[in-house]
Parts: sequence; C-alpha cells; structure tokens
Amino acid sequence: MGFKVGVVGATGAVGRTMVEVLEKSEVPVSELRLFASERSAGQTLTFKGVQVKVEVLTEEAMREGFDYLLFSAGADVSRRYAPIAAQAGTTVIDNSSAFRMVPEIPLVVPEINGKLLKGYHGIVANPNCSTIQMVLALYRVHDRYHLHEIFVSTYQAVSGAGHKAVVEYERQLAGDTTHAVFPRQIAHNVIPLIGDLKDDISQEEWKMINETRKILNSRSIAVFPTTVRVPVRVGHSESVVARTLFPIMSKEDLVETIASGEDVILHDDIVTPVEVAGDDYVHVGRIRLFDAHTFGLWVVADNLRVGAATNAVRILKLHSQLNSDLVFESEAKEVEGR
Ligand code: A2P
Repeated sequence: MGFKVGVVGATGAVGRTMVEVLEKSEVPVSELRLFASERSAGQTLTFKGVQVKVEVLTEEAMREGFDYLLFSAGADVSRRYAPIAAQAGTTVIDNSSAFRMVPEIPLVVPEINGKLLKGYHGIVANPNCSTIQMVLALYRVHDRYHLHEIFVSTYQAVSGAGHKAVVEYERQLAGDTTHAVFPRQIAHNVIPLIGDLKDDISQEEWKMINETRKILNSRSIAVFPTTVRVPVRVGHSESVVARTLFPIMSKEDLVETIASGEDVILHDDIVTPVEVAGDDYVHVGRIRLFDAHTFGLWVVADNLRVGAATNAVRILKLHSQLNSDLVFESEAKEVEGR
C-alpha cells in the first residue's frame, strides 16, 4: 500500500530536491511519476534505487488521478495544469506563487497552520522560501507576545532562482561575467532586487509582506523587507528585527520561546549557510533583546529544502496523516492538536 505521487518540474533545482526528500521520508510511495518539459525528454532520475523516466507534462497525465502531485515548474505551469489535476481528485501541493494569495487556498507551513489540511482536498500552496524560514523562527513569539512589526533584510542564495541561475553563477565564477537570469553579475557581488518592482517594492518583498500575514493569520502585522541576492549556492540568511505588542519578559524567555518552535535549532555561536545546506531545520542565532518590545535575530535555512521541498513533503505527510487510513512507521506526533 502506498500513494501514487507525481513531481511536476522534476528536473529543476527544487523538483530534484523534492524527489530526494520524498525518498528519505516515511511517506509510502507505491508509484512515482516525474514530469518536465520536452527539453528533458529521455532523462531519468533515481528514486529508491530505481531509474524513473522523466515524462513530458500533458493535460491527459494530470487527468489520470494521483493521490498527490508536487508542482515546482513556475506559476504559469501551475496555473494551467494544477486545476486540471485538482479537478481529477488529486491533492496538489504547489510551490509556485500562482495560488498563494487566493483566499480559499490554504498557504501552509505544517508546524504553524497544518490544521488547515484536515478535511481539505484540492490545491495547497507552499509559501515562498524566505517567508517559510522567517515565520518558523518567529511564530512562537507571535503566539506569546503578538508581533506587530517585522523589519527583515534577506541574503538569498542563487539556487532560489532555479537551475539556470546556478549555471549562470558558475559561469561567472569561471570568468564569463555576462548575465541573463539576474539583473546584474552575481558572482563576487550582491544584488538588492529580486523580481520586478511594483510600487517601489519587489515581487519577493511583496511575497514576504502578504504571505507572512496569511500564514500567521494576522492582518495587522506590518512587514518591511529588503530582499537581496548574494553569491551563495544554497542557504538563505535573514537579519530580522521584530517588534511585539506585549512586553517581552526577559532575554531568557525570548530565547526559550523561539526555541520551542518545531524544527527550529538555536545557536549560541554564529551559523552560516554552508553549515546548514542539506538539512531540514531553521537555524537561529544572534538573538538580541534591544528593549522590552524589540528583538533581533539571524535566521538561516536550506532554501531548496526547508524553503521548498521539505515543506512540500511535510504538507504531503501531514495531509495524508490527517485524511487517510495509511499508517506511518513512526506516527508518534499528536498532529490533530496543531
Ligand atoms: P525542464 O528541465 O524540462 O526545462 P528551475 O526552477 O530549476 O528552473 O526548474 C523548473 C522546472 O520546471 C524544470 O523541471 C523544468 O523542466 C520545468 N518546466 C519549465 N517549464 C515547463 C513546462 N512548460 N512544462 C513542463 N515543465 C516545465
């Protein structure tokens, strides 16, 4: 017994990581199908020791009916194919921005609002990578002290912009400094713009503003982001300064509150992207209590895993635990209470 699962965009930076994370997870998969564009026809990926052929994505395939489809092929592909799959009864977990702000579609970080998955079928949106790691570092503080302002500057890895971006970065490291994916040279440089501007705010910044409010279920949280691309292959970092409505009792209480977050690891020392690339945790260091209402922290996580693939597979796992009869090997967690 197991689930029929598909990955759309399987040859991309996130898609490949989805296959890896799924392989290592406890999710029982009876059949895995991989989809990409014609460009990838003939390629294979390994899943649990078996070579799986990459298929060209078609509407017919989406109508077949899967238990779960994980999408990471960009918003246009999601807009066209995800509704077809959902119509056929598949639960779609979509890593693109296409449906995140649609009110009826849950935007899920399982540790925070996983209860939204109970009884839900259709499209589930996976949040933006920078937002996921920030809200995981902050959600317990919000529960306890009510966040009302968040000032954040990001230091985002090139892999967040996809496989082509990594190739461009590597080409620049080898000496060819022309650019096509990024708006400037990224090797040996930093670029304070991710996505197009709308009303002076970049697309990536709008995502952090809007998605944070939706995930934390608070329209009153004001987010002031500056999102920056840096020459790091994997691992987004964030400098966060946040203000609370209620006074924070003490530095110790703040530290304990942040540490009580699921999948959050605290560091007394500094923590950097190369140290965390490849793991599934949000790493928090440099906690400072500036005054009773204002604190600062440094947050680092693997953007391809925590910020995308791992969150998607955690959604799949929790959704199946809440809604199917299949029992996992270690079903120890009290998931219903989240
Ligand atoms: P392909 O490798 O065949 O181009 P990334 O985010 O790393 O750039 O990856 C994007 C993923 O989405 C890749 O797997 C890519 O496949 C896939 N993709 C892009 N456009 C389409 C499309 N029109 N149909 C199916 N898959 C697509």
